[in-house]
Amino acid sequence: MKFSKSAPLKGEVTVPGDKSISHRSVMLGALSKGTTSITNFLEGADCLSTIDCFQKMGIEIEKKPGEILIHGKGLHGLTAPSDILDAGNSGTTVRLLSGILAGQNFQSALTGDESIQKRPMRRIITPLTAMGGNIKSIRGNDCVPLEIQGSPLKGIHYNSPVSSAQVKSCVLLAGLYADRPTSVTEPFLSRNHSELMLRSFGATVTSQNTTVTIEPEPALTGQEVQVPGDISSAAYFIAAGLLVPGSEILIKNVGINPTRDGILRVCRQMGANIQILNQREHCQEPAADLLVKYSSLKGTVIQGELIPTLIDELPVIAVMAAFAEGVTVIRDAQELKVKESNRLDIMVHHLQAMGADVTPTEDGMIIKGGPLLHGAQLDSHLDHRIAMSFAVAGLASEGETEITQADCVNISYPKFYEDLQSLQH
Ligand code: S3P
Repeated sequence: MKFSKSAPLKGEVTVPGDKSISHRSVMLGALSKGTTSITNFLEGADCLSTIDCFQKMGIEIEKKPGEILIHGKGLHGLTAPSDILDAGNSGTTVRLLSGILAGQNFQSALTGDESIQKRPMRRIITPLTAMGGNIKSIRGNDCVPLEIQGSPLKGIHYNSPVSSAQVKSCVLLAGLYADRPTSVTEPFLSRNHSELMLRSFGATVTSQNTTVTIEPEPALTGQEVQVPGDISSAAYFIAAGLLVPGSEILIKNVGINPTRDGILRVCRQMGANIQILNQREHCQEPAADLLVKYSSLKGTVIQGELIPTLIDELPVIAVMAAFAEGVTVIRDAQELKVKESNRLDIMVHHLQAMGADVTPTEDGMIIKGGPLLHGAQLDSHLDHRIAMSFAVAGLASEGETEITQADCVNISYPKFYEDLQSLQH
């Protein structure tokens, strides 16, 4: 896929449903009594993997135009899968599902694609084992494939060494099946979609600072979930609107949960012109339309508790920083090394290939922005966020940028290139 310096981007775009919320709505729908209706569900490969896993455990899922219906069977209604469960590229599927599987009365196995077979699962094996779970990495390398023998679980208080919503959610979901309350404390607050949705389905979940506690064995009831647009997908249009001179883009219906809106805070720090319009809320998840206008950006510092609130947006934020005036420092972002690809290494490599002044550090990078970048041939490494970030970089750079293995945007945003093109007149 090829990109070159763009004329002003103008118009409206509606980004697809939030990936994190889409996954969770299928999972909680399956574990509830009654039917859950999901609108604006993200039909990207990751969320379809979650659907496939629950279908293999006896859950009937109906796909209607614009709506997905999950016919839940209650907390103890899943049945043993006849086949190995395949999470594809999706870390959220593996980690959250493992929490659920640990508390069942059957055995299961869980695997995924080449990328997920390298991602760390010790972070969930440790707390699940402490709860009495029986989970093992079949190859003994702390990665998938995992074998999970369901067993009675005990409630624990887990001090997580990482600020990870996947780890937190895994433990909370296992806590549904425990013999007493389960709590998780994390260094900084990660996205809280699980907490909000568990509450709206009927679980008792309390949060205080960075600790969340769940009571076991709730009676979960099917709900209507309206999934807001994914701010992680909106991020590419935010960046494109800010970087391509003369642009003005209205991004409609974007989830702006405060545990996810770090990119908006960083944009403000960088001097961006973004208006938040038409704010509303559904199931405690706030959403708004974002009006983004081309702005000259300045460098900033991104670190600490901000990091979990923009963890998936750091690749495109680094692109923005490369075009900003002055220095941007990204710290405390070592988690990026264990995403769908080693995003720290690849961001540094690709930005340098485009002529940017970037120095890698142990937990981030230092970007001296300013000069115009030039096009380059860049591989996505099958990482959707790398592909989309550098597509945006290509629109603001001299010459031609070619992204190879560009189709991986299917993971979270199948119509990304079409939507981007619709703004180019
Ligand atoms: C997610 C949590 C984040 C994020 C991922 C989705 C979730 O991962 O990077 O894309 O839905 O819980 P970590 O929890 O590993 O940081």
